[in-house]
This record gives sequence, structure tokens and C-alpha cells, in this order.
Amino acid sequence: MKVYLSLICIWCVVTICQAGFVRVFEDNFDYDGGVDLNKWDFDVGGHGWGNNEEQYYTHNRRENARCERFPGSGNGRLIIEARRENFEGRRFTSARLKSKADWTYGRLQIRAKLPVGRGLWPALWLLPRRSVYSAQYWPDNGEIDLMEQVGYDPHRIHSTVHTKANNHMLGNHPSHSVIVGDATSNFKIYTLDWNVDKIEMFVGDEGNPFQTRIFIWNKHGDWTTWPFDQPFFVLLNVAVGGFWGGSQGVDENVSGRMEVDWVYYYQWR
Ligand SMILES: *[C@@H]1O[C@H](CO)[C@@H](O)[C@H](O)[C@H]1NC(C)=O
Repeated sequence: MKVYLSLICIWCVVTICQAGFVRVFEDNFDYDGGVDLNKWDFDVGGHGWGNNEEQYYTHNRRENARCERFPGSGNGRLIIEARRENFEGRRFTSARLKSKADWTYGRLQIRAKLPVGRGLWPALWLLPRRSVYSAQYWPDNGEIDLMEQVGYDPHRIHSTVHTKANNHMLGNHPSHSVIVGDATSNFKIYTLDWNVDKIEMFVGDEGNPFQTRIFIWNKHGDWTTWPFDQPFFVLLNVAVGGFWGGSQGVDENVSGRMEVDWVYYYQWR
């Protein structure tokens, strides 16, 4: 009996110590080669992606998406590269990765350095896995944009959400931006904190990832719909042109790369 109780105590201590805010997903990209297809899917094609975009998204093609270690280091990063080249009827190529896993609530953290180039439109964002709220996938089921940058204004970082009632088609999407003067020269940490009744997004660095809050929205604000209680997956991409990215023109031979040092997802367990 005594031994049995002791074992239960040990089990309790171990369980309690393990509970907490835990990293449930990570990709550190610390090798040379293609993207890990156990963790990521690719969106492929050149049909404009709903935004009249100009690039063709390729499938795990090294020119557009690859992992590369920093010279002389074990540390690596994912490179997503938009290139000026004729491909499948398009004038540019690039890549758009989607996480195979999805989550509801928690913290998404991404350390990234952004490209430079008029016409480029990189994004770190999330979409719902399923159409739960309406058969119209977008915008009724939500979208969370942790980081968007457009090449004609490269130091302005935008964070946005879209829902059925609040989206860019209606022109009333909740969106905020901050200036990050070194967003294209240094790696910054972008954080989404997604709670039951609140969405916040931050930009900072190693010393303080929460240095600048870009965005906060409460469910009890002027929402009439709140689709953010379902599984969402993560997207990483660099678009070329499009209604927003191309609105001030696209440099004829524009190319550029977004580098992603790591992607982490945390949840309470
Ligand atoms: C774009 O590239 C083509 C082919 O190399 C070159 O002829 C042209 O001058 C370039 N355009 C600009 C604006 O640099």
C-alpha cells in the first residue's frame, strides 16, 4: 500500500510539472535541403490566389523554398524566394507553405527577416482548416494575419483579422500597423497570442518578443461573428503583385527572399 501511494505521488508530481505552456510544434530548419513534408504542404499554382497575384507557387522547388544553414553554423533557416522567371505562363515564381498540423488557441511565434522589393508581399498568417460557420470558406470562417508587409512600404508591419462581418471586401477589417525600421535587415520575432475572447499580435526580438503590440481585438468589441474557436493552420509565403502588394507597381525584375529562422506553436496542456 505504501509503495502504491508513493508511486501515485510520483506520478502526480511528474504530471503537474509537465502541465503548462508547452511547445507543441517546432521547425528550426537547421539543415540544408528541401522543406520537411511531414510538417508542411505547399499551395501550388498561378491563378492569382483571389488577389490578382502574379507569381506561380511551386511545390518544394529549391529555387523557391529551401532550408539552408548559416555559413559555418549548425543553425539554419527556411528561405522563401520570389524570383523573376517565366514559369507556367507566369513571370514570377515563389512558394507558399501550409502547416499540416492545426491548432485552436495558443501562441504562434515566428522569427523572420523580410524581403526588400517593390511588388513583393510576404505574409505569416493563419486560415481555418474547415468551413464550420458557412459554406463560404472565406471570409465567414476567419483569417488571422500575424504579419504582412508590402514592398513599397517595407518597414510597416501590418496585423489584421478578417471575419464575415469585418473583412477587406467590406473595408472594415480590424487592422493595425507599426514601423519596424530593421524588419528587412534583422530577424524579428512575430507573436500571435490567441485566446478564447482576445487576439493580440506583437513584434520584438530575443530580448523582448513582446516589445511592440501591433494589434489587439476583443471578442466583446464590435464583433457580430467570431469564428476563432476552430482549428487554424499556419501559412508562410511571398506573393508578387496583387491588389495590395502591386498597388504601387511591381518592379520589372523584382525578386527577394523572406528568411524564417524558426516557427513555434505553444498551447496550455
Ligand atoms: C529586366 O531584365 C531584363 C533582362 O535581363 C533587362 O533587359 C531589363 O533591362 C531589366 N529591367 C530593369 C528595369 O532592370
